[in-house]
Amino acid sequence: MNEKEVLLESQKWLNIISSTSLTDEQQQVIIGETIENFSFYFNRGYLDYRKSVIEMKDQPALEWRGEGCWFEDIMGRRFIDCLGGYGIYSAGIRHPKIVKAVADQLIRMPLSSQELLDPLRGALAKLLGEVSPGDLQYCFFINNGTDAVEGALKLARIVTGRTNFISSLRGFHGKSCGSLSLMGKWEYREPFLPLLPGIHFVEFGDADAVEDELYKADQTGKGVAAVIMEPIQGEAGAIVPPDDFWPRIRKVCDEYGALLIADEVQTGMGRTGKMFGVEHWNVVPDIMCLGKALGGGVMPLSAFISTPKIWQVLESNPFIHTSTFGGNPLACAAGIAAINVTLEEDLPGQAHRKGKYLLGELVALQIRYDRLIRQARGRGLLLGMEFPNTEIGYKVVSGLFKRNVVVAGTLTNSRVVRFEPALNVPDALLDEILERLEDTLKEIDRTTYNIQQEED
Ligand SMILES: Cc1ncc(COP(=O)(O)O)c(C=O)c1O
Repeated sequence: MNEKEVLLESQKWLNIISSTSLTDEQQQVIIGETIENFSFYFNRGYLDYRKSVIEMKDQPALEWRGEGCWFEDIMGRRFIDCLGGYGIYSAGIRHPKIVKAVADQLIRMPLSSQELLDPLRGALAKLLGEVSPGDLQYCFFINNGTDAVEGALKLARIVTGRTNFISSLRGFHGKSCGSLSLMGKWEYREPFLPLLPGIHFVEFGDADAVEDELYKADQTGKGVAAVIMEPIQGEAGAIVPPDDFWPRIRKVCDEYGALLIADEVQTGMGRTGKMFGVEHWNVVPDIMCLGKALGGGVMPLSAFISTPKIWQVLESNPFIHTSTFGGNPLACAAGIAAINVTLEEDLPGQAHRKGKYLLGELVALQIRYDRLIRQARGRGLLLGMEFPNTEIGYKVVSGLFKRNVVVAGTLTNSRVVRFEPALNVPDALLDEILERLEDTLKEIDRTTYNIQQEED
C-alpha cells in the first residue's frame, strides 16, 4: 500500500469503529478482511487455534460487543461468557460505573504528562493500600501481570541483595523473561533458555519442599531472595493448596530471611471468594502482585504492592523502576471504580456463594459422568474441571462453544477446562451454563466414550 492507500484504509476502519450498525454485506467484508489481516499481518497461527474460527468455518465469530456475562459477534450471535477473559471480567463486561469513570477521565486527560503529580495515581494507591492485607501499603502501577511480577522480582533482589528464587511446578507468572524464568512448564521455557539463573522449583503445596530448598540455599551460601507462589494456582488448573501451606511458607521465609511474594494476578480482587487469595489463610505476604481484574475489565492495569519497610529502598531513587504508561489516569480511574464496585457489590462474597453452588453442581456432574470427568475443583469462581485427556477436554470446550457458552483450557495443564464467569453472574445464568454443560457431556459420553485413551 502506498501512503494514500494507508490513509484511506485507516479512515475506513475509523468509520467502522464509529458506526452504530452494519449491513449484512459490511459484516461479511469485515469478517473476510479480519481473516486476511490475521493471515498476512498478525499471526496466521491463531486461525488454527481459535474455536471462533475452526468451529465456525463458514462464518467465523468476530468479537464485537459485550455486556455483563454476554458478548456478541459482529453478526449478532450471542455467547455466555464463562471465561471472563481469563479472569479480567470479575465485574462483568463494560460495568457501567467503571466505563463511566474511564469515559469521564478520557475527556479530561487520558495519559500522564509525566511531570505533574497525578491525583488518580495517588488515590488508587491509597485505596489499594487500605484494602490490602496487613502492612502492605506502597504500590507501583504497570499494565500487565507479567510487569507486576518483574517489578516484584527486582524489588526482592534489591532489598535482600540475593538473586535466587523459589517457584512452583506448573506455576504461571507471565511470559516476559524474568517471569518466564519462574514458569513451571517446560514448553514455554525451552525455546528461550537460558533464562534467569538461580530459580528452584518445588511441587505446589509442598511446604516441606520449600523449606528444603531454603535450607539448601542457605547452607551453600546462595540465599533465596523470595519464594513466589500463586495463592491458588490458576493456569495449572485451579489447584487449591493444603490449608497449612501458606502459613508454613510464611514462617520458613521469615526463618531464612527470604521474602514471600503472592502472585494474586488472577486470584486477586475477589475471584476466589476473598478480596485476596492469601486471606483464606490469614497470611500477609511481603509483596503482592495484582493485575487482570484490577482494571475493572475496562483498562489494562497491574500493580505490585509492599510494606513501608521494604519500599524504603525505592525512595532514594524512585526512577530506578519506571514505566511510561504505568499508572496512567485512564487505568487509575478504572482501578478506583473497580475497587468501588468490588466492595459495593460484595464481589468476593458473591464469588464465595456462587462458587460454592457451581462447584457443588460440577462435582455432581463428575459423579454422573465419572467416565469423562476426573475432578472438579477450585475455590470461589476460579474453578476447573479435569478430564482424563486433552481430547475430551477439547470436546467439552468446543461442545460448549457450539452451545454458545465460552470456556477455555488452562495454560499449563491442558486437561483442565476453566470456569471463570463474572463474580456478579446471575444465578439463573449459572443454571443455564450447567444445563448446556450437561447436554455437552451427554453428547460426548454417547459419541466418544469408546475412543478415550488415558494420557499420563
Ligand atoms: C498468576 C498469574 N500471574 C501472572 C500472569 C501474567 O499476566 P499477563 O498475561 O497480564 O502478563 C497471569 C496470567 O494469566 C497469571 O495468571
